[in-house]
This record gives sequence, structure tokens and C-alpha cells, in this order.
Amino acid sequence: MQTNTPIGIFDSGIGGLTVTRAIRRLLPQEDIIYFGDTAHMPYGDKSTEAIQAYSIKIVNFLLSQQCKAIVIACNSASSAAYKLIREYVGNRALVVNVIDPMVEHVAEHYAGKKIGLIGTKQTVRSNVYKKKIDDMRQGIQLQAMATPLLAPMIEEGYAGHPIMAQVIRDYLNKAAFDDIQALILGCTHYPLIKDMVDDYFGGKVDILDSSEIVAQAVESKLCRFELKREDNRQGNAQFFVSDYTPAFEEMTGLFFGEHAKLTLYPLWE
Ligand code: DGL
Repeated sequence: MQTNTPIGIFDSGIGGLTVTRAIRRLLPQEDIIYFGDTAHMPYGDKSTEAIQAYSIKIVNFLLSQQCKAIVIACNSASSAAYKLIREYVGNRALVVNVIDPMVEHVAEHYAGKKIGLIGTKQTVRSNVYKKKIDDMRQGIQLQAMATPLLAPMIEEGYAGHPIMAQVIRDYLNKAAFDDIQALILGCTHYPLIKDMVDDYFGGKVDILDSSEIVAQAVESKLCRFELKREDNRQGNAQFFVSDYTPAFEEMTGLFFGEHAKLTLYPLWE
């Protein structure tokens, strides 16, 4: 592993650009290689085995680009494949997922409290957040619910729309979420509806978006292994996808805050 090699980031599609944006803000000097598996998205409805197989193939690509770190910028892939990826990568690169930094954050701030989680079917079914939060032994009670309509609606541009507010209300208006102190946005698309979720709770519940927490985790891991670039430069960012459509490229603005040029890399041919 070398300091001047890129950080590899992957997601099922374009949603991981919310995490990429936070990493780029915090570590502008680093080069980034992003891979969005648009040919197979959404991962949230796939089996664990399928997500594992896709993830290993993408990790191979990122390793072939000499990435010093691999960030799994997808909750569904983090819940299905993190352990496998860590074993597979070994000491060839650092591996960061989007779940552990959030679990550490809630363990530190919400001991003895009740908190909620929303995410894809895969993320919720895997129970990974609950297992990891229980392992922290902080007496945190977690209520998790799959909210599968939210990611496709965000992709269709419904963030901010009254129909989205209605769907959010319908999902969150459940007794299980009474008295929660915080809600984890357990999907990389959800930062785009953070304000709407906050409005639903009238500002009384902390809405936890992992993108910045994950970016900080990437920085501290790079520092710990003396792999953080310290030179004053603007890093390059390259964005690859396994299937290209103009619609994917248009969506990059939503998630990344600026247009990103996507390059087709047909990993499955
Ligand atoms: N990126 C996925 C996640 O964070 C959401 C989209 C999908 O289901 O692929 O879970």
C-alpha cells in the first residue's frame, strides 16, 4: 500500500456519490476511483450471495487500480459483504464500510436510548446494525424498518415533493418509532431526504446521515496506517459504471452536488 495511490469507492449505483462527496470535501488531495454497479442496482432487493459475488468482482477491479483503501459506500453491500471483502482483501488495502462508523457514533452518543433505522430490505433483513449495536453493550434499543420505496423515488427526482412527504409519513408513523431519540438513515440515497425526515419529526429526533461520519472514518484509518496524502494538490476523481445511460449521468448532480462524467467499464463482459 502506498500513500499516493487512490481511494476506491463503490456502490450499487449512483447513491454512493453522497459518501464520495463527503470524502472529497474532507480529503481533496486524494485521488478517487468510484465504481457504480448500475448494471445490477438496486442491491437492496438482491440476495446476500448475489451482492457478495458482485462486490468481489468490483473489489478486484479497484485492487487492479492499486487502491490503497476500499470504501463500501453502500449499506446493502456493507451488510452483505463486508466480512467477506475484508478477508478477501487481506493486507492489500484498507477496507471501510458505511455501517461500523455509524455504530460507533451511536454507541458514543445514545447509550441507554431508543433509536430507529431505515434502509433497504437487504440491510434491514441482515440485522447487521442490530447485532453490531448490541455488541457495543450500551443498552441501545434499535427499531429497524425497510423502506424500499424511498431510494427509487429519490432517483426519480421526488426528494422535496409532497408525494415523498406522504410516503415518509406513512412509513414512519408507526408505534415502533414512538420515543426514538435518533433515526439512522441506513441507505446512501437518504441524505437527499434528510430535511424531509427531520420535518416529519418536527426537529425532535436526531437524523443521522452517515456520509460525513464515514468520511471521517476513512481519514482516521488512512492516518493510522500513515497512508494519508499530505501534499497540497487537488486530487483526480474518476467515475466508472457497469452500465451507462444518460439518465445515470444526470443523476450524478443530485447525489454528488455537481455533474460527474461517467465512464462505462463493462466489468461483466
Ligand atoms: N446504495 C444502496 C444502499 O445504501 C441503496 C440502493 C440499492 O438498493 O442498491 O443500501
